[in-house]
Amino acid sequence: MPIVKIDGKEVEVENGTNLIIAALKAGVYIPHYCYHPTLPVVAQCRMCLVKVQGAPKPVPACTITVEKDIEVDTRDEKVKKLREIVLELLLQHHPVDCPVCPRSGECDLQNFTYIWGPEKKRYDGKRRLKGWIRVSEKILLFKERCVLCTRCVRFLSSFTRTGGIDVTRRGFMSDLSIFPDRLASESGSNYVGNIIDLCPVGALVDEATVYLPRAWRVKRALTHCPLCERGCRIVVEAWKGKIVRVKTFDNMLDKAEEHLYSPHEIIQPAYNEIEGIQEIGEHSYDKLYTEDMLICDIGRWRWREFFFPRDTNIYILEGEKRKKVEWSEAKKVAERFLDLNPKAILLTPFATNEEMSAFLKLAKKSGADISMLPTIEGPEDEILIKRRKAPNHIGGERIIGGVKQDVLNGVNSGKYKALIFYRMGSQGTFNVKTADFVIYIDITPPRDSYIRGIFFPATIPYEKRGTYTYGGEQKSIYPVLEKSPSELDLANFLCS
Ligand code: SF4
Ligand code: SF4
Ligand code: FES
Repeated sequence: MPIVKIDGKEVEVENGTNLIIAALKAGVYIPHYCYHPTLPVVAQCRMCLVKVQGAPKPVPACTITVEKDIEVDTRDEKVKKLREIVLELLLQHHPVDCPVCPRSGECDLQNFTYIWGPEKKRYDGKRRLKGWIRVSEKILLFKERCVLCTRCVRFLSSFTRTGGIDVTRRGFMSDLSIFPDRLASESGSNYVGNIIDLCPVGALVDEATVYLPRAWRVKRALTHCPLCERGCRIVVEAWKGKIVRVKTFDNMLDKAEEHLYSPHEIIQPAYNEIEGIQEIGEHSYDKLYTEDMLICDIGRWRWREFFFPRDTNIYILEGEKRKKVEWSEAKKVAERFLDLNPKAILLTPFATNEEMSAFLKLAKKSGADISMLPTIEGPEDEILIKRRKAPNHIGGERIIGGVKQDVLNGVNSGKYKALIFYRMGSQGTFNVKTADFVIYIDITPPRDSYIRGIFFPATIPYEKRGTYTYGGEQKSIYPVLEKSPSELDLANFLCS
């Protein structure tokens, strides 16, 4: 395997590794805008210029695939000067609206300018202001922030194959043009939203998060998407107690962090405070481009309609009437489940393995029948999206034996006097109103006014800690916000 010697550090890499990736493995970050491992190389931003021993002038690192031993210098004075000029040109017409940009704090233009940018701008003419434009139903383009890296253009032409954004005009006048027809309803592709994360600056923005606060002020969890059985790695962000954004990990890893600050004063102290970051470990460049780099638009956006609006109160359901109560009072009422027979527990495939085990223990102790509720199924594709639209179908099969039709038939025929109906995100309607007492766990209270029992607000997967067995592979999930009491608290209380 060839050896790359870069800034004095040596690393052995697979034959054919791109120099930018080889450098990351050696712990050296070569600044880049247009390069991305999922896209064709175009070498047009010129930010990645490096000195390669034996080459007459600096060369773009993204164009080099390592095939033999190579010696590279990224700190050469000429290289530094060229980086400075690239950044000076990019900043020429930039609005410097960092205080209102949702990428501020994790923007490659901002960070590179701090480290490698010019001290002064020489051009003092009028700025060419281009404003913002709608790209699609959910995405906006702030044209002046764009560094014309064409990551979005290439993603839409080579990955989704829909097109929809292109560079028009030449040189100084180059600009992005949008072809809205191709991007109508996210263009029929389930992956268009990735252009937001691929954009290295704050030019392409999710409209719902246009005015989010600085990157380091939002709370974050590195977890897995619950919306299908793939379980992609995602970052979930919350602000002021509300979940506001889902995105990929790469978008969040502040790429210039180690260059900018000593380990004791990193730009994003929040990095160490991210729930679940322990799975990734300490911040280092070799982690970049190793996690799931793309997610589907369902994982990115559909959680809004799937889990919201929701009701987080506990209610006692008494036929037509509904009384809001605290957990302490609800506990006394919930105990009624233990006194009635026969009884059954029905669990959603959104329940974690730990919740399933706790409810199974309760079923054994209280003599209740237990079954999974059916999983929603839908179209899948050959990229990421899986047919089962829930995370823990397999976990349910392994822990409690999956869907038991005799139990579900018993529910519909009115066999059970007491039920725990943990419904959130499951498929089908069941005749639970014939039971004398129901602990109804869902996003919103039941619309059926004949149900008697308790409404317990469901904990959504972004608020849980535990594991799911996605398609057979166990992965951990981490909460961006904590909700109490949880379903585990309920099961453990009834078991105690
Ligand atoms: S909008 Fe973003 S991804 Fe697209 S060309 Fe501009 S900077 Fe690159
Ligand atoms: S494919 Fe989409 S829905 Fe499925 S886990 Fe990944 S991001 Fe979520
Ligand atoms: S990353 Fe190499 S030229 Fe843009």
